[in-house]
Amino acid sequence: MIKKFSILIAGGGSTYTPEILILLLESKKSFPIRKIKFYDNDEKRQEIIARACALILKEKAPEIDFTYTTDPRKAFSDVDFVMAHIRVGKYEMRDKDEKIPLKYGVVGQETCGPGGIAYGMRSIGPIIELIDYMEKYSPNAWMLNYSNPASIVAEAVNRLRPNSKVINICDMPVGIEEKMAKIVGLNSRKDLTVRYFGLNHFGWWSDIRDKDGNDLMPKIKEYIKEYGLDTYKLDGKKEDESWENTYRKVKDVFDTDPNFIPNTYLKYYLYPDYVVHHSNPKYTRTDEVIEGREKRVFDEAIRLIKTGDVAHCKFKAGNHASFIIDLARALSYNTHERMLLIVPNHGAIENFSYDAMVEIPCIVGKTGYEPLSIGKIPIFEKGLMEQQVAVEKLVVDAWIEGSYQKLWQAIMMSKTVPSASVAKDILNELIEANKEYWPELK
Ligand code: NAD
Ligand code: G6P
Ligand code: MN
Repeated sequence: MIKKFSILIAGGGSTYTPEILILLLESKKSFPIRKIKFYDNDEKRQEIIARACALILKEKAPEIDFTYTTDPRKAFSDVDFVMAHIRVGKYEMRDKDEKIPLKYGVVGQETCGPGGIAYGMRSIGPIIELIDYMEKYSPNAWMLNYSNPASIVAEAVNRLRPNSKVINICDMPVGIEEKMAKIVGLNSRKDLTVRYFGLNHFGWWSDIRDKDGNDLMPKIKEYIKEYGLDTYKLDGKKEDESWENTYRKVKDVFDTDPNFIPNTYLKYYLYPDYVVHHSNPKYTRTDEVIEGREKRVFDEAIRLIKTGDVAHCKFKAGNHASFIIDLARALSYNTHERMLLIVPNHGAIENFSYDAMVEIPCIVGKTGYEPLSIGKIPIFEKGLMEQQVAVEKLVVDAWIEGSYQKLWQAIMMSKTVPSASVAKDILNELIEANKEYWPELK
């Protein structure tokens, strides 16, 4: 008999939950499911998403057993995969992560700079808690974690629960690879074979080929030199304005080292002055998401609950969801698919810290992942990565030791922050804002 899987989505109330559910249903043939559960610590938020999803499931896959709960024991018992996407402090705290640094003329961003550090300090405890629940109630399960800030979370998990079955992932590279495929006229990112190195939200493509081994870098670079990664003229897809700016800015990020193709997130480290200058301290990405994605998802969920009109459901599966399910499939069926994961370096990047969490291609199969060897990286990228990995390690140290000094060092070490005194002002305000979430710092 074929095995059918039981999936828990942790952070059931997330704006991404419906698209993951839709993809799970669309993938039923290649990835059979017997049970889906949602878990969240915000009962009301989760209930809206869950009731809408229950209607979709009833219509499209009544055979799947579906429940949602805020009880960890019920949630984590009898599961094969935990797909975790919690946002500790929700948009209310993301708003502060973005707006507090901006008051001091510093980048205010979800995962980069002081905002990302603040979010990291909030996320470590609750993520460890999820892992402990999984190990207690379903010790054979895998957790596929994409809760942000993924780099700090990955560092903390590697330090505090080094033997746990957790894989940390990010959808930015797959989103960018989808654009690259368009640029070279291929159907999908799956037609590309890539080499990539870096940290999460801090990396570069060093090689991109088609399935016959032809080098696609020259054509992609040609395009980026002109348009960055703005592919509107190729696919006609409109993105939110802030993302469009980010994709265009890749042109200038690429200019800093035309040997490689950069991840979009490097703009926060290489052009922080530009980013701050183009930010509105009163209206940041959080406001855009609250008025955009969050509103769209929750309005549609409420519409479904009121009308039961599943036939006209607007939820669609995207890249984000497909990557996660590919990973679950690779672990279940030993597909040996090549995927970018956030893993301990352990020598893969020859001239970089052994114990840093890096984002590199891995071969994924039943026993987990095997990183590919990257070799030596150039001094420019290595220097930038060393500074950033030190930030991430200091944050985890600060959380474990309750150390004010180390968190201050982490913030002053970030390339987005100009001085120790600015770092201190931002830190003091972040401590106040995060009282409910951070350990006490001495
Ligand atoms: P969201 O606020 O809509 O959803 C997050 C949910 O997590 C909320 O319902 C919240 O109540 C719940 N939550 C918070 N703390 C919890 C806890 N301790 N236990 C259980 N549930 C908890 O956020 P979103 O915009 O949908 O994003 C969800 C997460 O996914 C974020 O961390 C985001 O950064 C991350 N994300 C990561 C990637 C990636 O590339 N790794 C891509 C997209 C989104
Ligand atoms: C990309 C990144 C994620 C990040 C998201 C932010 O997908 O890989 O790590 O959470 O963008 O998107 P948002 O729309 O919430 O600003
Ligand atoms: Mn990411």
